[in-house]
Amino acid sequence: MKTLVDKLRDEHSLTAEEYRDLLSCTDTETLEHLRVQAQMVALSRFGNKVYLRGLVEIGNVCKNNCFYCGIRKSNVRLKRYRLNRDNIVECCRHGYELGYRTFVLQGGEDPGMSDEKLEDVVIALRKEFPDCAITLSVGERSRETYERLFKAGANRYLLRHETYNPQHYKSLHPRIMVQENRLRCLNDLKEIGFQTGTGIMVGTPLQTLDHLVEDIKFIEQFQPEMIGIGPFIPHKETPFATCPAGDIDLTLRLISIFRLISPAALIPATTAMAALSPGGRERAVLAGANVAMPSLTPTIHQKKFKIYDHKPFEGANPEESYEMLSRRMEAIGYVVSGERGDYTNE
Ligand code: 5AD
Repeated sequence: MKTLVDKLRDEHSLTAEEYRDLLSCTDTETLEHLRVQAQMVALSRFGNKVYLRGLVEIGNVCKNNCFYCGIRKSNVRLKRYRLNRDNIVECCRHGYELGYRTFVLQGGEDPGMSDEKLEDVVIALRKEFPDCAITLSVGERSRETYERLFKAGANRYLLRHETYNPQHYKSLHPRIMVQENRLRCLNDLKEIGFQTGTGIMVGTPLQTLDHLVEDIKFIEQFQPEMIGIGPFIPHKETPFATCPAGDIDLTLRLISIFRLISPAALIPATTAMAALSPGGRERAVLAGANVAMPSLTPTIHQKKFKIYDHKPFEGANPEESYEMLSRRMEAIGYVVSGERGDYTNE
């Protein structure tokens, strides 16, 4: 089995059967070999650096009803909020002072956040922070909208495909959400020129190893610049409230596999990892992740952007979040960096 890991490291690809073997492997030596190889590939590309992205959760209003997500439309228990342009710019200004040179604006699919408003936000940020990367994560929109946002100055876009298997996709989303549209969005984003991120949740209800193999094969072929993976975590106000959480070790294994498939990819150590286990983010970095996304969201709203339960305490304010993450990374021999850290494949 160790030779499979070496083959993946050298050729960046395996057959579906080989991926399946790696995902179901129980040999601890092979698994440690996988982790170490992934960590070494990341170290040789990025050094012991973890790029920080300042995350601004711009609103939790959402028209969708994804079965897994805590900010789904039908969650009437949730207090909804929406930041306006000046609020968002202010968050980024604060982040800039702390050293962030990438801002990620993430929000639900909010009909109240029109294309014009979003474009206006991007224009304002581009003007004030010409040296920063602007990343958007606001769901499925039309190609025309993506084009406008790109022209306005956005550089990157995050949109997880969640699962590549169409049946499985249907079991996670209401019928009105069609997978074709999600894939259409991803293709448009890439063609327009966005550095594009996609990814999955690990351990969603009814997910099988074969589904994960399909996800891996999709990512191999799509070649996203960013790959976001985190364990599924049940949220009590969703139809999946009583489902078990995803497996953290399987998630780590997937991070390592993606690192070997794509040495230059930006792979976050997600907050969901930290939510499931206190050292989750550190373990993700040691398995090949190289990005973290501390929050710049105003403290009064942070609790409302709750897509899953047990979201960890991230520090009372952006300074503390930055400090906390910086200390955690130093403890495992890494240093955080606010620099843009664009994808390059030289
Ligand atoms: N558990 C883990 N991740 C979740 N996401 C949404 N709901 C959950 C949950 N319950 C992830 C999805 C989405 C991203 C913003 O958060 O993958 O794309």
